[in-house]
Amino acid sequence: MNSKKAAAEKAAEYVRDHMVVGLGTGSTSYWAIQKLGAKVKDGLNIRAVATSVSSENLAKELGIPLIPISEIEQIDITIDGADEVDGEWNLIKGGGGALLREKIIASFSKELMIIVDESKQVNRLGKFHLPVEIVRFGNEITLKQLRTLGCDPKIRIVDHKPFITDNGNYIADCDFGTIERPGQLHNAINMIPGVVENGLFIKMATKVIVGFEDGSVKEI
Ligand code: 5RP
Repeated sequence: MNSKKAAAEKAAEYVRDHMVVGLGTGSTSYWAIQKLGAKVKDGLNIRAVATSVSSENLAKELGIPLIPISEIEQIDITIDGADEVDGEWNLIKGGGGALLREKIIASFSKELMIIVDESKQVNRLGKFHLPVEIVRFGNEITLKQLRTLGCDPKIRIVDHKPFITDNGNYIADCDFGTIERPGQLHNAINMIPGVVENGLFIKMATKVIVGFEDGSVKEI
């Protein structure tokens, strides 16, 4: 069994009737949305909010009821993937380019359940280059300022073109090497004017579910 699918299906078990559910983005979240879609068909009564256009489209296809953000009083649980998880549950996210919407939804969720395969667990963050969402205007200046923090930022290119986020921005993928103080780095990056948000999620996760190739899962 696919390890991502195993973690995702375990997470879906925590979703109960009448919950407002945040839908993550990426290949692991895909399986969670699929499972929730199947449960909705079987009578599960939830309302959802998506962290990207692609997850929103998938939810619509599967018949998962979506609510406008303006109507949300509280999000009970968000299920989302990650690119790296350290021992303190700090995360790097944004490999799929959805980090801004993911962080907005996560920040308003009572529970942020992170679903990963075992390859995403690390002692220290930083092997995965940190995605930073930056506005297009003056991006050359923003990159220079990111460089002063000790990284080598590269505008993400997909199909020979700069990748544009759902919010109309660029992603700069930043190689900081091992990140010794993720909280400090998070704050320093977000002080740069052209930065919209960065992919460090500091102490936001409330549960981590790790899936393994044999279909087993570990909840931590
Ligand atoms: C998207 C994300 C994803 O959750 C992260 O990249 C993990 O993706 P996948 O589940 O495909 O490995 O942060 O912005």
